[in-house]
Amino acid sequence: MAFLDSLKVIAAYAAFPFIAYAIVVFSYRLLLLPLRSYPGPLGAKLSDAYNGYFSMQKCLHLVTQRDHRKYGSVIRNGPNKLLFNSAKALHDIYDNDNIVKSHVYLSTVQSPGVYSLFTVIDKPSHSVKRKIVGQALNDRSMRIFEPTMTEQIDLFIKYLSLCSKDAKPVNITDRVAYLACDIIALLSLGFRLRLQTDPSYRWMIQGMFLANHLANVRMQYFRLQQLRRLLEKMIITRSSEDKHVRYDLYSIASEANSEGEAIRASEIWSEAMVFFPAGAFSTAAGTCALFFYLSRNPKCYQRLVDEIRSTFSNNSEIQAGPKLASCKYLRACIDEALRIAPPVPGTLWREVAAESNGQPLVVDGHVIPPGTQVGVNMYTLHHNEEYFPDPYAFKPERWLASETQETHRKVMSEAFSPFSIGYRGCAGKAMAYLETSLIIAKTLWYFNFESAPGKLGEVGGGIPRRRDGRARPDEYQLYDVIAGQHDGPYLVFKPRGDACQGLDADGLTF
Ligand code: HEM
Repeated sequence: MAFLDSLKVIAAYAAFPFIAYAIVVFSYRLLLLPLRSYPGPLGAKLSDAYNGYFSMQKCLHLVTQRDHRKYGSVIRNGPNKLLFNSAKALHDIYDNDNIVKSHVYLSTVQSPGVYSLFTVIDKPSHSVKRKIVGQALNDRSMRIFEPTMTEQIDLFIKYLSLCSKDAKPVNITDRVAYLACDIIALLSLGFRLRLQTDPSYRWMIQGMFLANHLANVRMQYFRLQQLRRLLEKMIITRSSEDKHVRYDLYSIASEANSEGEAIRASEIWSEAMVFFPAGAFSTAAGTCALFFYLSRNPKCYQRLVDEIRSTFSNNSEIQAGPKLASCKYLRACIDEALRIAPPVPGTLWREVAAESNGQPLVVDGHVIPPGTQVGVNMYTLHHNEEYFPDPYAFKPERWLASETQETHRKVMSEAFSPFSIGYRGCAGKAMAYLETSLIIAKTLWYFNFESAPGKLGEVGGGIPRRRDGRARPDEYQLYDVIAGQHDGPYLVFKPRGDACQGLDADGLTF
């Protein structure tokens, strides 16, 4: 007993410095830091662990929205973090040449000194990388790449055709993820991953989500090593071929451009590593959300079906060009899905650039103290009723010039930012629109679809009576791991008339 008592005394003495330290630090953060006058949850004011905790639960976007509702449109979201919920702030922060990505992005760098387009912070290095990587994603490259993309989408259609024969429900999340990753592997390293037809590498999808989610937790190390080995395999395969054997990110990035700029060989794998979450998972999230909302909104579904089937006269006409561009309702549906379920639903933190000449940063009328990180949470802004009335309703019409006043469409567009804006905005926006348009248009050309019967049909939506922001059955649920993770919808496909005749899936395994 005496021994135990002495241990307690020693523990109390040992803990004293830590407790004293915590009291000093927390008091300083609460009472003295320049952001002390801003409202916000106490936990966030005291420590960034607040955001860390909810990131681990994959629900930070929902908690942020709840905090904005409680504390207002400008809130303190960390000892040195300010969050805004307005279109003006969006433009002041992201469309601003004096602002750079926050140093928190450096925590996602996998090898010291090896930066990708996504992680690089300093502006000159970013500008060189953006020019080079941008070449793989510009209009010319997309024209060259489109047949490869279409070949993969046709495989997806063949799988749906197979399932439609016995009305087998399809989990759209799985199939679109395989499709999007197969496309990105071909675009980045000309590698045939074949996730659609061969399960061998399908583990990589969960591995990548885990790597995204637990970037700083040891548990993911093993999977990350496996991922790295798979990427190394892709790079070794690709580098054993002639650079010009195909037109992909590798062929573009490994050759200096006309200004003598090139990406170091050691950085190509990290660019490729970024292409998967940035290019495949975000596009997959947007596409799956659109399948979900179409399956639950019969009027929108029918209007889109009518547009697709009256615009094209056969499947091979469904390609980039004036006909696809004339499908205004399709574009409105894609934008509405990206608004209501933004694939990157979180906050992209920014800070003042070192080279900004000491000019004060002003965001939506607030002078920001030096050293503060600032941001706008995309999920919250996209559900702000000031810009998007009835924000949880899927209403593609709100984006149509014929049905919404020009002034209001302008207000919405200012607050619509699924790809972010400014010089760090998405490099693959055009590809994302093309890929989603082709997948949806081709699917509706061949099939009618509806939610799977019973419980399976509910997957993807919220669950009534949950108290964590996930109670709406008709809202597609995103799990915030940089690019939103998701599940479902499960859909049943039925061939449209004889449109599927001639779709030959013989010899293919899925
Ligand atoms: C619906 C689909 C997509 C969405 C919603 C989306 C969204 C975004 C967002 C929000 C950012 C800014 C990230 C940040 O500030 O940290 C970004 C950056 C980026 N995206 Fe996308 N993206 C999509 C598709 C694609 C595709 C298909 C590619 C092509 C591979 C791509 C490549 C990139 C790259 C390379 C960056 C970094 C750009 C830079 O920092 O200069 N994205 N994307």
